[in-house]
Amino acid sequence: MQGNRTFTMIKPDAVKAGKSGLILDHIIKNGFEIRAMRLVHMNRRQAEAFYSIHKERPFFDGLVTFMSSGPAIAAILEKENAVDSYRELIGATNPANAAEGTIRKLYATSIQENAVHGSDADETAEQEGSFFFNYFERV
Ligand code: CMP
Repeated sequence: MQGNRTFTMIKPDAVKAGKSGLILDHIIKNGFEIRAMRLVHMNRRQAEAFYSIHKERPFFDGLVTFMSSGPAIAAILEKENAVDSYRELIGATNPANAAEGTIRKLYATSIQENAVHGSDADETAEQEGSFFFNYFERV
């Protein structure tokens, strides 16, 4: 049985391109409720910490540069089976492989600048949400 919360970020590419409103509308129209939301411009150390699981990957440095390049929108979303349901809504990491109608197919430009992040498991969703929102904001 899956939990009912996930964590997302609308990444700097999509915010810069003025797509935040369209993406939030897409999320809400698909039945997700926003439980917490914040505009954040991460510095390099914060972006490194958020993506520390990828620190050995060849794309890590580019990813950190990109994620600290401008403001992003961090949010906690609620819906039944939130993690899987949201991953379906956003599509594959590489927009070239993302299904028609998914957020990444519609708004992402590359495997790195892929418009949105979505947690990959309940535990990660909890951990990522607590990176940006305190206990009071998450209850
Ligand atoms: P996200 O779902 O936020 O999780 C890790 C991020 O790393 C991913 O989206 C992309 O932004 C980035 N990423 C994953 N694979 C690659 C890759 N092969 N090259 C560049 N960036 C990548």
